[in-house]
Amino acid sequence: MKTLAVISRKGGAGKTTLSVNLAITAHLAGLRTMLADIDPQRSASDSLRARTGDGPVLSEINAGKLFSTQVQAQHGNYDALVIDTPAAPEADGLQAINCADLCVLVCRPTFLDIASVVRSAEAVRRLGKKGLIVLSQAPSRRNGFEPPAVLKAAEALRFTGMPLAPIGLRARTAFQQSVAHGRSVCEWEPGSAAAEEISRLWDLIAPMLLGQEDIKARAG
Ligand SMILES: Nc1ncnc2c1ncn2[C@@H]1O[C@H](COP(=O)(O)OP(=O)(O)OP(=O)(O)O)[C@@H](O)[C@H]1O
Ligand SMILES: [Mg+2]
Repeated sequence: MKTLAVISRKGGAGKTTLSVNLAITAHLAGLRTMLADIDPQRSASDSLRARTGDGPVLSEINAGKLFSTQVQAQHGNYDALVIDTPAAPEADGLQAINCADLCVLVCRPTFLDIASVVRSAEAVRRLGKKGLIVLSQAPSRRNGFEPPAVLKAAEALRFTGMPLAPIGLRARTAFQQSVAHGRSVCEWEPGSAAAEEISRLWDLIAPMLLGQEDIKARAG
């Protein structure tokens, strides 16, 4: 079983939106998936509770229970554990990083988010974990051109030494609407630009998380 921690110490960056989307996408890809909500705000839980039909299994816990939940999920033959983390306290985020095989650092293209991600990237590196930065709520391209805020963010984030996903999430109402119904954007608006972003992001993350061999074995 592999564990993906979705982190950002900045509130409202888009952790829950991404966690819910990735957990559902993993589930729909045939992985036995658990979503651990360690944020007392319980936003991921609110979202998944609004879902009808099958989906990822929800575990509402505090960070202190993360390790034992991970062991239980391993024994329960889960393939993937996605952790939605709180912006604070920092110790809870560190606990999630410690449990993770891959950390996804969510970052809006703003000065304050970037400053915060620089610190999180340092923590991920210190703990010897793999990380990937994903831009969230980015403004859309205008006349085919990337907005300056996105270009500047990409430039600034290079200094973290951590890879930046070439696919980010733009600010789109489909993300807000789908999460309210416990759906991924791929279920909510199949074929939409938002759905394309999540499925391309999953195609990037899945091999980083599971390893190429595992992906091939599943395909075969
Ligand atoms: N790509 C997006 N496009 C439009 N709105 C978004 C997007 N991602 C998140 N949002 C909205 O931004 C707000 C914050 O998102 P979300 O709850 O996912 O962030 P968070 O990092 O989990 O916040 P918190 O730190 O409070 O846990 C929500 O209202 C959500 O619907
Ligand atoms: Mg959240």
